[in-house]
Amino acid sequence: MQIFIDTADLNEIREAYSWGIVDGVTTNPSLIKKAVDRRPGLSMRDYIRDICRSVEGPVSLEVKGVSTEQMVQEAEMLYERFNPVNGNVVVKVPVSTAMEDGQPLFEGIRAIKTLEGRGIPTNATLVMTAEQALMAAKAGATYASPFLGRVDDYLRTKLDIAFDKSDYYDPLCARHLEEQTWEEEASGAELYDRLMRSDISDNGIYSGVDLVDSIVTIYDAYGFDTQVIAASVRNARQAREVAEMGVDIATLPFEVIREMLTHPKTLEGMQLFTRDVVPEYEELFE
Ligand code: E4P
Repeated sequence: MQIFIDTADLNEIREAYSWGIVDGVTTNPSLIKKAVDRRPGLSMRDYIRDICRSVEGPVSLEVKGVSTEQMVQEAEMLYERFNPVNGNVVVKVPVSTAMEDGQPLFEGIRAIKTLEGRGIPTNATLVMTAEQALMAAKAGATYASPFLGRVDDYLRTKLDIAFDKSDYYDPLCARHLEEQTWEEEASGAELYDRLMRSDISDNGIYSGVDLVDSIVTIYDAYGFDTQVIAASVRNARQAREVAEMGVDIATLPFEVIREMLTHPKTLEGMQLFTRDVVPEYEELFE
């Protein structure tokens, strides 16, 4: 599994890249805003050039328009301006740009298709369903980014479960909640009706990790070239679970990468080993 770092903070990018385990970077307008809030007045062009120079691997930069025409124009501008820096620009395009019911739904897909025809690599972003990921792959997206943490947020909010951003959400508990319905006394038809109306899953998807699994299964079944980037990852356990299913890439915040190397017994083990270094052993290293 490749690891991308999900940040626009240059210090985080440089530090994580220096560890030797980072293969690329993903940004979005909210991450750019955070970086600018920390360093007001920075030159965005220079800053993005620095990000591109800092890694040997894909750097996703997102468009801001909502129509196909705007997004294609912005993507070409981003690609022409920044790809020459290090040859690693990928343009992030929302899989759909509709913000309300009734707005055009396929602007993002059309933009991805057009950019694919022009040889500009794309990362279909804001993917919340496997159906959207299927559309993105059919349009020729280079990458598709399912936002697994936001799907968990959506499911937990529907169920009124209080949570912190980094909390793991367990789909097994959700399935168990649903199974409890079976223990109630009711006719088959009533139970079926109740289950079909149950709001525990998102149309049969029980967690963000479950969504990534569904997308990996579909892409494998048809041999799509589109690579899956597990995105909106909030904790180390989610990173492990998407790795277990063989996802191509996980894009991880700095803190999640750090969490992946943390265990209390490793800390304790280091204390014990360091304490037990005897002079005879010390001498070996002189
Ligand atoms: C992915 O490419 C996005 O930048 C990101 O993973 C979103 O994560 P969030 O839901 O934690 O904001």
